[in-house]
Amino acid sequence: MAYSRKVLDHYEHPRNVGSFDKNAAEVGTGMVGAPACGDVMRLQIKVNEEGIIEDARFKTYGCGSAIASSSLVTEWVKGKTLDEALTIQNRQIAEELELPPVKIHCSVLAEDAIKAAVQDYRRKHGKGSGSEAD
Ligand code: FES
Repeated sequence: MAYSRKVLDHYEHPRNVGSFDKNAAEVGTGMVGAPACGDVMRLQIKVNEEGIIEDARFKTYGCGSAIASSSLVTEWVKGKTLDEALTIQNRQIAEELELPPVKIHCSVLAEDAIKAAVQDYRRKHGKGSGSEAD
């Protein structure tokens, strides 16, 4: 299957690959897997005292679309509050990367990874995950 130009760009030049110390207080770590294909994505956010995500890192063991989706969301979450980051939806990721239907679950993985990272950060800071929508 041919990847879109945007997927290839992120795949060949992934942004923000790497990791933060998962035990650091300002870091939230989200680790998610796609049952369909076994691909795994880890997304980390670094949150400053104002509650703004100032940096993000990812490591993805998966397909090109999963790598591109996680690379893209590390760019998107920067500068956002946790609540704003939670509004990022896989549909927007899929649209931006022009993912075909069979690759939609790769973008779902990225949305789930953001949620998991925010949840981890909030758990560390003694705040529950709040009201879960689903
Ligand atoms: Fe499973 Fe892309 S094929 S994450």
